[in-house]
Amino acid sequence: MQQPKQIEDAKGKLGILLPGMGAVGTTFIAGCLLARRQLAAPVGSLTQMGTIRLGRRTDARTPLIRDFVSLASLDDLVFGGWDLFKDNAYQAACTADVLTREHLDLVKDELERIKPMPAVFFPEYVKRLRGENVKPGSNKWELAEAVRDDIRRFKKDNDLTRVVAVWCGSTEVHSEPSDVHSSVAKFEAGLKSSDASISPSMIYAYACLMENVGYCNGAPNLTVDIGAIRELSVQRKVPISGKDFKTGQTLMKTVIAPGLRQRMIGIRGWFSTNILGNRDGEVLDDPDSFKSKEVSKLGVLETILQPELHPTLYGNMYHKVRIEYYPPRGDQKEGWDNLDIFGWLGYPMQIKIDFLCRDSILAAPLVLDLALFTDLAQRAGMYGIQEWLSFYYKSPMTVPGLYPENDLFVQGMKLKNMLRWMKGENLITHLGNEYYD
Ligand SMILES: NC(=O)c1ccc[n+]([C@@H]2O[C@H](COP(=O)([O-])OP(=O)(O)OC[C@H]3O[C@@H](n4cnc5c(N)ncnc54)[C@H](O)[C@@H]3O)[C@@H](O)[C@H]2O)c1
Repeated sequence: MQQPKQIEDAKGKLGILLPGMGAVGTTFIAGCLLARRQLAAPVGSLTQMGTIRLGRRTDARTPLIRDFVSLASLDDLVFGGWDLFKDNAYQAACTADVLTREHLDLVKDELERIKPMPAVFFPEYVKRLRGENVKPGSNKWELAEAVRDDIRRFKKDNDLTRVVAVWCGSTEVHSEPSDVHSSVAKFEAGLKSSDASISPSMIYAYACLMENVGYCNGAPNLTVDIGAIRELSVQRKVPISGKDFKTGQTLMKTVIAPGLRQRMIGIRGWFSTNILGNRDGEVLDDPDSFKSKEVSKLGVLETILQPELHPTLYGNMYHKVRIEYYPPRGDQKEGWDNLDIFGWLGYPMQIKIDFLCRDSILAAPLVLDLALFTDLAQRAGMYGIQEWLSFYYKSPMTVPGLYPENDLFVQGMKLKNMLRWMKGENLITHLGNEYYD
């Protein structure tokens, strides 16, 4: 990867397109509108609140990240998206019931003006949903062309200089890459023949890359993890990243597991269960959509604990993840974890975690950071898989054959070192010998 020679300034307006304008999407949009009018704080967002240390610990140089690298300002963001329900962003936010009416009503007019464009939707990919705001036709090539038209219109109508997309749509059913996904040429032929293995999210991703729109995948869908999309992102010089926002239980898991591993504490079992009552929970109640989520949630411990290097400590660990749809709880998920651990001489102990979180409150700042950092990457001439954004994902993308980093602290260091590297600053290794010379 080439170090950027120069990074274009974030001049002009940045469009953020969301395929899927449900709980996460509308909480993100409403939050940005509130934050830009200083009616609420963008808590959880590194781009808005995070700082970065530069140079030695004694240098006292710790600017805000947004003062260190040129990022689009909240004032310059324009929001749009697609959904299979016609509700505008205000109505959809009321249905999602994450933010209070007191909050939503402060930005009601702006939210009402954001109306979803008709979606590309095939019910076999999300079995629990049916909606009326769907693009007609079944030829997948024509649908991709229609999404490309939407993007061009959105850009022109809003006088935008740049656009990025973050998938905030439902979790599609689990699928594995097949021949049609293996190259751009085969994928395009598959679009023309409406190959059944091409999902709606892949059509959005293809259309975005063709329109030079960076694409971030917030769900565990296969979408960008296929040869065709990786190849296209390099061909078109557009950044991609994924997959599945790392928010509640998995965030905690990737905080706790690295600590236990650092101290060589053994783990016999890790049982995780959730109750969740929003539309996402309803979709995940379908076993095929749950399978996508399960794969993404289960993967994180392997690369943190590395049982092949530590068979005594982690070789026989039993890891199980459940999600239970429980409507009364709405978006206010509860995630329980039981860890059976062992210490010195194998003596057993337990840890219990009960995280009463709010799914969309945790996810919204990730959407903002991913959009702004992806735009930064594109202005810096970076394209293809953006592994430094693994900080935000449960199941980070890497080049094939390379294991991902799931440890949140390694991911955080990686992200900040990438920003230092982009700007030609020294990387921080935390060695610290220089203070003792
Ligand atoms: N909230 C979190 O903490 C979190 C964490 C990780 C991943 N996610 C993922 O983020 C996604 C969004 O979550 P949510 O809580 O907002 O769900 P949601 O059900 O409230 O919203 C998803 C929206 O996507 C729409 N949709 C589905 N298929 C579509 C398509 N093909 N085109 C356009 N729109 C489509 C649905 O109509 C719905 O409005 C889900 O896939 C979820 O698994 C959420």
